[in-house]
Amino acid sequence: MSVHKEIKKVTTNTLQKMKAAGEKISMITAYDFSFAKLFDSAGIDIILVGDSASNVMAGHETTLPITLDQMIYHAQSVVRGIDRCLVVVDMPFGSYQSNTEIALASAIKIMKETGGHSIKLEGGEEVVDSVKKIVSAGIPVMGHLGLTPQSIYKFGTYTVRAKEVDEAAKLKKDALLLEEAGAFAIVLEKIPASLAKEVSESLHIPTIGIGAGGYCDGQVLVMHDMLGINTEFKPRFLRQYLNMHEQVTGAVKQYISDVKSKDFPNEQEQY
Ligand code: KIV
Repeated sequence: MSVHKEIKKVTTNTLQKMKAAGEKISMITAYDFSFAKLFDSAGIDIILVGDSASNVMAGHETTLPITLDQMIYHAQSVVRGIDRCLVVVDMPFGSYQSNTEIALASAIKIMKETGGHSIKLEGGEEVVDSVKKIVSAGIPVMGHLGLTPQSIYKFGTYTVRAKEVDEAAKLKKDALLLEEAGAFAIVLEKIPASLAKEVSESLHIPTIGIGAGGYCDGQVLVMHDMLGINTEFKPRFLRQYLNMHEQVTGAVKQYISDVKSKDFPNEQEQY
């Protein structure tokens, strides 16, 4: 029997056991009640209330503009929809980088106001003290290395990270530092599969990959990408499971046509 089925609610401890048992971890983003409910009842292990909400919900070009209160609103909606999965809430840009006190205060605000189970923040060595402080307050922390979208203006591109030896060595060191600081898992975004394998094998905590190959302990995708709501974003790592863009467009076109032609509502659809 899988660890997954034995346990009613997914906790950070469950994820640790899944890694030990070689059972892969599934994670998806969600930003609202209805999709969170669907994903949870489908059996997803983790829902990430990602700061990608800034892109896919608010239409911003980057993740930088989303505020702590906006993240809290999305997380509250997600938490109301779930029963079983673990909810991770992204700490938005500006809510943790200044110092460890601000980082802790933001993490506490997220936990108090959302009912989420954990937080995620981006970076390695530079956020390790904040990770320690947040973990010591009893808040589970997920790390995020590789392509870290909150630093897009520092790097200038969304291309694959850590292809060079120096950057790969820093990433390996950062992963170990995050584990030592008490992180319960680490997202590895857009790095070579061989590096993700090395990191995953060197850590006791699970790695969750996005564009980081099949050796990670779990995988995460942004719901809008995997459901085909976004059609312009087609990176090599993305598997699209549905073409919602086509299906929703077709359904709405049919509805418009039914209204215009007076086919809708019919006798059965009125009081
Ligand atoms: O915000 C987000 O959706 C993320 C995933 C890409 C991991 O951080």
